Amino acid sequence: MSTVTVRAAAKINLRLGVGPVRDDGYHPLMTVYQAIGVYDDVTVTASPAWEVAVDPVGAVDVSAVPLEETNIALRAGRLLAAHHGIDAAARVSIAKGIPVAGGMAGGSADAAATLVALDRLWDLGTPDDELLAIAAELGSDVPFALLGGTALGTSRGELVEAVADVGSWWWVAVPSAAGLSTATVYAEHDRLGLGDSQLLPQALLDALATGSVEALAATLANDLEQAALSLRPDLAAPRDAGLAAGALAMLLSGSGPTWLALCRDHEHAHRVREALADAGFADPVAAPGPVAGAHVVEYA
Ligand code: C5P
Repeated sequence: MSTVTVRAAAKINLRLGVGPVRDDGYHPLMTVYQAIGVYDDVTVTASPAWEVAVDPVGAVDVSAVPLEETNIALRAGRLLAAHHGIDAAARVSIAKGIPVAGGMAGGSADAAATLVALDRLWDLGTPDDELLAIAAELGSDVPFALLGGTALGTSRGELVEAVADVGSWWWVAVPSAAGLSTATVYAEHDRLGLGDSQLLPQALLDALATGSVEALAATLANDLEQAALSLRPDLAAPRDAGLAAGALAMLLSGSGPTWLALCRDHEHAHRVREALADAGFADPVAAPGPVAGAHVVEYA
């Protein structure tokens, strides 16, 4: 086997409860993650030196993705090699369908996919708990990108635990031409002195466990929405357009700027997608959730 391709999904936060900043600069979270059907595919090939290449899928703008050491997929590969004490390198090719700096954890998806792909390429058999610990070192959202599905996230988001979700949910992701830095949005949240909401979101968990889309629409909430709108008042337009297009609710994805329109079903999602495209919003995409975490799609 000389190449392995692993697919990893975008994440959204159905609830993003943000507490006061910790001494290490991170914020304690009480969040519910869901993986949705927007993907990056990562292909690894044995190589004498570390290399990374990024190609867009569809209209994704990949110009801001670093192609040197700081690329999170390369950091993932090096960390896995170091963990096992092996001196190996690989070429990492990313086919990017997840918007860059969109609040959908595209970089975290690449890191998770690279860990799984290299574990298979090098036949390491890394136990799940070790892979999750390496993932947590790479970024707060990387463990969830391994797990997928729907999960409760605590601490800075890196501690994940699957939750019951019987729904077949449909979303329309509405990307924004300009990205937002996660760190900047958290800093704005602090500057605005926004509060502390660390309670278990029981009504949301009940909506997921019963599959009621009306109940889900009523319980979606993102504490970073106000900070993102403060930095980018233009983000009110896609939110309002989504509601006008018939979305049951509009939810900012993570730290933004991507919005998610919650829809009743597949047909409704396609109607909302078309209405948003007709209203001039570029490249809205309908996606189901929950979907799987990082998984192999091809060995060659
Ligand atoms: O963990 P990750 O590298 O994805 O975090 C990116 C940035 O987002 C951090 O440097 C920090 O500024 C902010 N962050 C935070 N609290 C979290 C997660 C991320 O403040 N729980």
